[in-house]
Amino acid sequence: MNTSALSLTAYEQLLGRLTSERHTWLVTGVAGFIGSNLLETLLKLDQQVVGLDNFATGHQRNLDEVRTLVTAGQWARFTFIDGDIRKLEDCRRACEGVEYVLHQAALGSVPRSLADPITTNATNIDGFLNMLVAARDAEVRSFTYAASSSTYGDHPALPKVEDVIGKPLSPYAVTKFVNELYADVFARSYGFTAIGLRYFNVFGPRQDPNGAYAAVIPKWTAAMIAGEDIFINGDGETSRDFCFIANVIQANLLAATTTLADARNQIYNVAVGDRTTLNQLFESLRDVLAANGFAYEKSPSYRSFRAADVRHSQADVTKGGRLLGYSPVYPIRRGIVEAIVWYITRNTRPTGNAPAH
Ligand SMILES: NC(=O)c1ccc[n+]([C@@H]2O[C@H](COP(=O)([O-])OP(=O)(O)OC[C@H]3O[C@@H](n4cnc5c(N)ncnc54)[C@H](O)[C@@H]3O)[C@@H](O)[C@H]2O)c1
Repeated sequence: MNTSALSLTAYEQLLGRLTSERHTWLVTGVAGFIGSNLLETLLKLDQQVVGLDNFATGHQRNLDEVRTLVTAGQWARFTFIDGDIRKLEDCRRACEGVEYVLHQAALGSVPRSLADPITTNATNIDGFLNMLVAARDAEVRSFTYAASSSTYGDHPALPKVEDVIGKPLSPYAVTKFVNELYADVFARSYGFTAIGLRYFNVFGPRQDPNGAYAAVIPKWTAAMIAGEDIFINGDGETSRDFCFIANVIQANLLAATTTLADARNQIYNVAVGDRTTLNQLFESLRDVLAANGFAYEKSPSYRSFRAADVRHSQADVTKGGRLLGYSPVYPIRRGIVEAIVWYITRNTRPTGNAPAH
């Protein structure tokens, strides 16, 4: 079979290149769900990685797991800094000698931001600005950061297209929108390269199922495994564009390394382009668990809608496809199968149930 470069996707070509080029990457929020998955992929590609985290919501166990998944030589290319993005000096230390920044550190969750907007603001805005300044001064090649679908706010249009947004519905959404504004100003004012990735509901291995602010897929999966009750906020017809972590990793690596001028200093949706209701999600999780030997017999309990929740969310991902070559290869079902196998292996127990954010 002819496997010329033309028949390979942009991502396959990039992975091929990275196996023979070593670069230095900074992953902030490296002990978290998305950060630790980025770390795993980069180390497996023999890259040099600096990681920064203060364990606010991340865990040492995520780093320990990555260590078991890579070789000793690959792990030796990882430098961890126990630091806080709210401290400029920590950001400067982390950015030293770095080529590509993948900035993931933030306090996620809409309800958390409603309960404590000040801490969310300090981390997601002050911390973000510190990282921009440190990365600018370290003259990194690019700064790719975790933006959010929450920036679409109250705009009803579906699917969501990057330049049509509404008003933010929560403090969290404000912070993520401000990130985009600051990144844009840094690009205009300092010739800085920043690329914002608006993640939709991301899921996959190492996503924390515990705590009041856990996301719906890990929370429900762990609750089903433990035979506990599932609560759906609202009528279950709230929908989300659930995005498996592998797609998010692909988007980060493509965005960070793009050399196309038109592709830099842009915002991109990172999702699948599909929409799944919470009722459908419940059935999918139950089916996949059953296929893995876990029968969950209970019906979900419905309770009132959650404050500041967006009703429907679905991305248009054509911009990322056109400018970055982003091509989400994991539909939700395939991702759910992989994630569930991980949760079964870990047998993690939740402390309660919450819907998607
Ligand atoms: N998971 C999703 O569905 C989703 C959706 C949209 C956007 N995002 C964004 O993606 C990023 C990663 O999210 P995640 O799901 O991996 O969450 P996570 O909570 O697992 O990871 C965030 C990490 O950032 C660290 N962190 C928090 N405050 C910090 C600080 N002051 N200094 C240093 N480190 C700090 C945490 O300890 C944690 O390890 C966040 O910016 C989040 O807002 C996530």
